[in-house]
Amino acid sequence: MTDSTSPVAFGRASRDQWPLDPEIAYLNHGTVGVTPIEVLEIQESIRREIESNPSAKLLRDISGMLGAPRPGRLRRVAGEVANFVGSRPDDLVFVGNATEGANAVLRSFGLRPGEAVLTTEKTYGGVDRAVRHACRQAGADVVVATVPCPIEDPAQFVDEVARALTTNTRLAVLDHIISETGIVLPVRELVDLCHAQGVRVLIDGAHAPGQIDLDLASLGADYYTANLHKWACAPRSCGILWVTAELQAGIHPPVISWGLDQGFTDEFDWIGTRDTSAWLSAPAGIEFLERLGRDVLRRHNHALVWQATDMMIDRWGGLSAAGPEMSAFMTAVQLPEKFAADEASAQQLRTSLLENHRIEVSVFAWHQRLWLRLSAQVYNEIEEFEHLADVIDAMPSSS
Ligand SMILES: Cc1ncc(COP(=O)(O)O)c(C=O)c1O
Repeated sequence: MTDSTSPVAFGRASRDQWPLDPEIAYLNHGTVGVTPIEVLEIQESIRREIESNPSAKLLRDISGMLGAPRPGRLRRVAGEVANFVGSRPDDLVFVGNATEGANAVLRSFGLRPGEAVLTTEKTYGGVDRAVRHACRQAGADVVVATVPCPIEDPAQFVDEVARALTTNTRLAVLDHIISETGIVLPVRELVDLCHAQGVRVLIDGAHAPGQIDLDLASLGADYYTANLHKWACAPRSCGILWVTAELQAGIHPPVISWGLDQGFTDEFDWIGTRDTSAWLSAPAGIEFLERLGRDVLRRHNHALVWQATDMMIDRWGGLSAAGPEMSAFMTAVQLPEKFAADEASAQQLRTSLLENHRIEVSVFAWHQRLWLRLSAQVYNEIEEFEHLADVIDAMPSSS
């Protein structure tokens, strides 16, 4: 498929720009992202440049630690990323991934016994465990808001969070885009609700950069963590953490190093010797997106994932977790009732799709049904989703 308003190829015609195995229908961009070949090549050239004089490159040029003129290259790159996500440069630091960003906030937050952290039924599992760990260590509680299924109006979600907040809640950890369902949550309304009750808000935007436009400075959250390696075409491991200026002094990286007490950006910019090439390659990923054209990309991916979702709803008569107006490039659609609806069956089906049919897609169990989590990226075509549906139709019942 080619979008006539973009000079860039989409679908099969774009495959030579991506390192994916051509034998696999890759319908799972959301899980860990895929990095375009040209960005991987830029990362490799950055690595080689570092290796030409590693100590000078890392300690002087990149981090600006050893008496080099400041800002170092990492800070300048952070400034470019800040521009992409609507932040002031000094409010944003790099982290390895969204899990690390969430851990930085949770471990620094200073929870006390009897206080509570609000999560949701669909908080990403790794972040959910980080919340539980922080609460366990502090003697604090976790309160869990329900996620309506299906959700018809963003206000339903705000109502559920309002219902779950207690007078002891000090922090709410909320997704911008829910991992399993692709639902885009009304962050501004959620922040206003929480702030009105004196509750700080950490937004987990792991899937947001590159899927939706961001303006972190005006979103109103206290803390925002995200990945650029999912939808913003950066190499793994490229995460960011944004913290509102007044709270930065209290937030420390999970790994403490030389920057302690030197300020927010210094603390995060050097946390021991690391491969910084993914962070330094982030502008190349952003440039790749810009060249595709963000509007064209958005239209293509949203239209494709909904063409696929509607086709599956027509075939199987099931639900999608939300409608098109609450999703970006990912959806969740119910599988036929013939499958046993537990997590073990979901993983079995996922494995069978990959091993027997060379289809990579996410499957999960929810509300007595199995669901597919569909992702659409520029390299996908509707035929791949149709093939997936044909394979599902041909499968025997497992219930
Ligand atoms: C909402 C959400 N948060 C956090 C993560 C974790 O991302 P990472 O493993 O890059 O930290 C994911 C991964 O899919 C996610 O969907």
